This record gives sequence, C-alpha cells and structure tokens, in this order.
Amino acid sequence: MKVLVATEKPFAPVAVKGIKEVVEAAGYELALLEKYTEKSQLLAAVADADAMIIRSDKVDAEVLDAAKQLKIVVRAGAGYDNIDLAAATAHNVVAMNTPGQNANAVAELVMGMLVYAVRNFYNGKAGTELLGKKLGILAFGNVGRNVARIAKGFGMEILAFDAYCPAEAIEAAGVKAVKSTAELFEQSDIVSLHIPATPETTKSINADLVGKLPKGGILINTARKEVVDEASLLKLMEERTDLKYIADIKPDADAEFAAKFADRYFATPKKMGAQTAEANINAGLAAANQIVGFFKEGITKFKVN
Ligand code: 3PG
Repeated sequence: MKVLVATEKPFAPVAVKGIKEVVEAAGYELALLEKYTEKSQLLAAVADADAMIIRSDKVDAEVLDAAKQLKIVVRAGAGYDNIDLAAATAHNVVAMNTPGQNANAVAELVMGMLVYAVRNFYNGKAGTELLGKKLGILAFGNVGRNVARIAKGFGMEILAFDAYCPAEAIEAAGVKAVKSTAELFEQSDIVSLHIPATPETTKSINADLVGKLPKGGILINTARKEVVDEASLLKLMEERTDLKYIADIKPDADAEFAAKFADRYFATPKKMGAQTAEANINAGLAAANQIVGFFKEGITKFKVN
C-alpha cells in the first residue's frame, strides 16, 4: 500500500517525519513528491499510489485518471476547493479534509498582518492601534473563532456573521452576531474573511460591501483570492484613498494593486497562513491518521464528497 505526499509547497521536515512514522507503523510505504513544478511529475507520482496527502495541490480529473489505484485523497488543511469532488466521486475516490488543524496558524497570521497594516508597513510614520477597534469576522468557523480569541487579547471589539452558524453560537463565544454581511462591513473598522471559495462566495466581496467600511477601513483576506471581486475593489480603492487591502493569497491583479496602492496594499509572496511547523504537524499527521483509519476501520468522518 503506497501513500503519496504530493506538496508543491512542502510541509516542515518534522511534519514529514511524523507522517512517515504513522504510515510505516501501519505497514504502508511513503512516497514523497515535493516542490514539483510540472503537472506531469504529479501524474507520474500518483500512478501507483493507493492514498494521497495534498495541500493546495490541484487534484482534477486528469490527475484522478492517472491515479489508477487511488482510493483516498486527503487535503491536509481546511479548504478543499482544489479537489474536483465530482471527478473524485466518479473515480470512486474518497476525498477528505482536516478541519481546524491549521486554524490557529492562520489566525495568528491575521493578527500579525493587521499590526503590520495599522503601523503603515513599518515605514516609520505614526500608525494606529488595534485596541478598541471593531473587527468583523466573516464566517465563524475554526479560523474565525481563533481570530476572535486572539483579537480579544488586543482589546478589540469583535463582531461576526456566518450564514451557516446560528447567532447564539457566535454570542456564546463572546462575539457580537450581526444579521448580514452588509451589516458586518457597516459596523466594523476591519473585516477579516474566513469564507470558503464556492460558486456562491466567488467574487462576493465587492465594492458595494467593502465601500461600507468607515474611513481608514481595512479588508484582510487570508481565505481565498476567488472570493474577492478584484476589478471592483481596484476601482473602489482608487476612489476611497483611505482603504487598505491585505492578503495572504496574492490576487490575480497583484501587480496592479501593488503599483496603484503601494502604501495601502500588501500580499504575501506565497500563502503563509498554514505555514508553521505546528500546523504542518497537526494537519499532516491528521491526514496520515485519517488514511490509516479509512483503510483499517473504514472511518469516513471527514469525507467531503
Ligand atoms: C487551508 O485551506 O487549509 C489553507 O488555505 C492552507 O493551505 P496550504 O496548505 O496550501 O498552506
């Protein structure tokens, strides 16, 4: 039985070591494909794999066609928009994610990027503080909850909206639940995005919404670039010279944002949210254990297709 770890952006070595131990203790063999640059490398590596662990690596119909023995693919992380779920089902491949395992890492990065933003990207000019500011969290899942927990330590006022989470559950976490996304943007100084990329959310964060932020508002996106309507945000930021956009997922129009709004825009060169040893260990080991649990006991708890 072969378990392939295919990661264009590798896990920390300590996490790979842990995955290998779990896989070998179960009597399976580990194959490693890291930092690959061509899809053909993935197609070749997956040919004899029974299971596969990925991160943001794309698993489409072509990859599944090449994966003649594949029974399970686990996305070591939260968002599984990189897996063609219908194609996986058609190929009798179980797809899973590892929800929550990297949530703290992403949430810590949100706060780090916010400090960087309100201190004017450390350019020496007087900035502002987070204490007492209103932070709107869009979607109160694992990452949103961790952001709320940490932001409380900064003394921020926290609001949230989640179309799929009852207001009572948000309020139980000591966070003000608002009634809609529009209300969240109206009432917050900063909005942090934690929605998945789905047909429903794609381009849903547009100028109409972001334009509701008060003067000096900040939009921070550590979720997915697809959820932002980049063209309308570019236009809005030209009109509203007070707004900032901070992203851990480089927009398609990165060059245009950077050229036009050098002092109001920042994007990490590569998605860094989940890139900690702890998150890699948590998500990587969870993925390996879920594969073992699936083969040995038929456990499908985190199946998403
Ligand atoms: C996730 O969905 O879990 C995060 O976006 C992390 O993605 P990564 O594993 O590619 O860093």
